[in-house]
Amino acid sequence: MSLRDALIYDARGQVLRELAAQGFDDWQFHRAATPAEAVALHERGGCRVGIAVFDQALDPIPDPLARLVAEAEVEWVALASPEALMHPVLGPFIVHTFHDYHTLPLDPPRLRVTLGHAHGKAERRHQMRDASLRSSGRFGMTGRSPAMQRLYRQLDKVVGADAPVLLSGESGTGKELVARAIHDYSARADGPFVAMNCAAIPASLIQSELFGHEKGAFTGALQRKIGNIEASDRGVLFLDEIGDLSLELQANLLRFLQEMNVVRLGATRHVDVDTRVVAATHVDLHSAVAHEQFRADLFYRLDVVHLHLPPLRERVEDIALLAHTIFDKYATQHPTPVRGFSDEAVQAMEAHLWPGNVRELINRVRHAMIMSEHRLILPEDLGLAAPVDTPPVMTLQRARTHLDRDMIERSLRQNHCNVSQSARQLGISRVTLYRLMNRLNINP
Ligand SMILES: Nc1ncnc2c1ncn2[C@@H]1O[C@H](COP(=O)(O)OP(=O)(O)OP(=O)(O)O)[C@@H](O)[C@H]1O
Ligand SMILES: [Mg+2]
Repeated sequence: MSLRDALIYDARGQVLRELAAQGFDDWQFHRAATPAEAVALHERGGCRVGIAVFDQALDPIPDPLARLVAEAEVEWVALASPEALMHPVLGPFIVHTFHDYHTLPLDPPRLRVTLGHAHGKAERRHQMRDASLRSSGRFGMTGRSPAMQRLYRQLDKVVGADAPVLLSGESGTGKELVARAIHDYSARADGPFVAMNCAAIPASLIQSELFGHEKGAFTGALQRKIGNIEASDRGVLFLDEIGDLSLELQANLLRFLQEMNVVRLGATRHVDVDTRVVAATHVDLHSAVAHEQFRADLFYRLDVVHLHLPPLRERVEDIALLAHTIFDKYATQHPTPVRGFSDEAVQAMEAHLWPGNVRELINRVRHAMIMSEHRLILPEDLGLAAPVDTPPVMTLQRARTHLDRDMIERSLRQNHCNVSQSARQLGISRVTLYRLMNRLNINP
């Protein structure tokens, strides 16, 4: 019988004694008497499930405990006295952050079921996280930096909800890519994806582009035209550069979002439309609202879910991965004698600030692939300055990186690429090892 490990925060130890007497033989409980001990036990790793005993009200909730419970890798079950559950601070904390809670006194058969379920869920969560750390990205995007992991977690929730989404982020950070992912990974995937750039269409045409018109509605309206809103029925309408929409059209769009129907120009009847609006902006809509250039009521309608796409300079870890992915993609389309990137090129890319973000990276890599006269792309092929500190100076940081890489690679070889065994050998947690492997671009 294999034992399952559970951390139990039980200040007085009373519940643990009862559990032992009740024969939870397939569980190994690790008791912490204080929140600090619980944190230390958690950091040692191995526990997928946590039990927190609140046999009396606890106020305020100690910060380390609150953070530990909110941590996603462990599923927490609360065993709480009725008094603790009724407490104005502790009660909501238990209900909202825990996997489940039971009211004391202990009900062993019920607890056994709950713990088993919590363990299964934590195990599954762990596998999903490992898979996403090992893959190069999700939702059709490349990147495994913490900033991108956060975006993926948000997208997991967003695709399932049917609310409007507002995307913000600098030029070239992937707003349109995310809008497509919201379509492709949602229940609307079989419906249309209609994209419209509000900045690129002349003001005189936007009205009919959005709402459509009947034949003869205005001079030049020779035929009936279905507008983009109507065309996106049962799908997703992507409104790019929404900040450039005139105040008049903002009012029309707001009316649509409230009523979910449109009246074509020159028509008398309305048509019901079921669409999900995803809007994007590279301007700060908050300040546009403050300057009365953007309607506050429309803003709040669109801003139900807000996703911010991080600029490339805030996820340097992703740059080499993105560059290689782009390289591989174009190398299969257009065979090239260029074999890849020199170390100097990777360093130069990681040092560059990328005002044009991923789009700029794609352009520079493609340019280099076509123009480079070397086997490996050099910084100048990318139009970037060579890193300043060549010839390489052995800084402390670099020496550490070398040592880390050396030891991790050696340990992985010795352990036949078993990450858990390597982590144990190196005296770090598996999570930390994965993080280091990502940063150093080591592939198990
Ligand atoms: N994380 C990513 N992984 C892979 N490709 C990406 C990623 N982010 C962006 N791209 C690619 O970069 C290019 C620019 O992305 P996109 O058009 O979605 O940016 P944007 O935010 O809409 O930019 P703009 O504000 O200029 O319209 C596209 O070719 C897109 O496929
Ligand atoms: Mg765009």
